[in-house]
Order: sequence, then C-alpha cells, then structure tokens
Amino acid sequence: MTGLFIVLEGGDGVGKSTHAARLAEHLAARGETVLRTREPGGTELGLEIRGIVLHHRGHVDPRAEALLYAADRAHHIATVVRPAVERGEIVLQDRYIDSSVAYQGTGRELGADEIRELSLWATRGLVPDLVLVLDVDPGTARERMTAERGALDRLEAEARDFHDRVRGAFLEAAAAHPDRYLVVDASREPDAVAAELRDRVDELLASRR
Ligand code: TYD
Repeated sequence: MTGLFIVLEGGDGVGKSTHAARLAEHLAARGETVLRTREPGGTELGLEIRGIVLHHRGHVDPRAEALLYAADRAHHIATVVRPAVERGEIVLQDRYIDSSVAYQGTGRELGADEIRELSLWATRGLVPDLVLVLDVDPGTARERMTAERGALDRLEAEARDFHDRVRGAFLEAAAAHPDRYLVVDASREPDAVAAELRDRVDELLASRR
C-alpha cells in the first residue's frame, strides 16, 4: 500500500507545529509509521537554504526568494518525502506549495499561477492527499508570536496587508479543492482544533482501506 502525504498550512503563528505534533502522536497511537517534516529546512541542504531565506541581512529579490523556496522543496520531496510515501509511511509536513503561492505568489505579488507551476516543476507534480489549513486572523497570530518568542524573522515581520493577502491565498486554494482541503478556525482553544483535525485525518485513513 502506498502511504499518504498530509500537509499543514496557514500563516505565521497559527499553531501548525503544535498541531502537527499532536496529529503525529495520534497517528502513531493508531499504529501508523509517521514522518514529520517541514519546509523550508526538511533536509541538511534545506537547513542551509532556510538560514539564507529567513535570516539574510540584506535585501533578497522576490524572484530569488521564490527560487530558494523551490530549491529547498525540490530536494526535500525527491530525497525525503516521495521515498517515505513510497515505503507506505504517512508524511505529515508543515508547509508546502500553497505557502509559496501565498507568500511569494500573492504576498510578494509574483503571481499565484506562475509560482504554483514553479513548485510543480520542482516536485514533479506531487500533490498532497490532504491539506489542513489553520486559519487565524493575522493580528491575533502576531500577538501570539510576540508573546511566545519576541523576535520575528524576515517574512513574519512583513506588514499587515502582506499577511492579509497570504491568509486570503490559503482560503482561496482551499475553496478551489474542497475535497482535498479542510479549513479549521484555529483561533479556538487547541483541544477543539486538534479534535477537528483528527476527525478529518481519520476519515482519510478510513477511505484508504
Ligand atoms: P516556518 O518554518 O513555518 O516558520 P517558523 O518555524 O519560524 O514558525 O516558515 C518560515 C517562513 O517561511 C514563514 O514565514 C513562511 C515562509 N515561507 C514562504 O514564504 N514560502 C514558502 O514556500 C514556505 C515553505 C515558507
């Protein structure tokens, strides 16, 4: 049996890593082999790219930024994700193509379609089985982030209208493919969010059998 590729998406500070960890625990308890990973930075090469794209001190041209994320993704999918799915594992990943469409395509205004095409080329067209979009108003998300860790990275520090565009792009992607996406109101308390995510993932597992 081939595995599954499940992605968590959403803006900065919406709780993706917390919920990925909880989902991974749930899947492991069901006896599944789970691989938790993320972009950017799911490989050694990717960690180097992550350092550049998030912490480079000078200006980074938006097209260069888009290509850095795409390079990270190409290597990550080819060397980590695709092999794991082919071994029958469940890959649970923080961020994928919709992040590039949202941040570079829409936030940086490079064009959603072109950026999606770039990532599809980079990944030889790998489409997730399920995308879980955690939705929180960017103002609330920023309050959470500054309360939790103070310093923001290059993308997190962008203006409010940038983050509003990013949020809109995730919702648009989800609306275009309701069969493969679930949008969850992640401003609620974490247990309620986790339960909704678990139910949808369990539904996917049931349909696989
Ligand atoms: P993330 O790892 O979620 O941040 P953190 O671990 O600091 O919470 O993502 C890093 C940043 O990269 C985030 O601001 C979104 C951005 N990003 C893009 O702009 N394009 C992309 O394709 C991806 C994957 C992330």
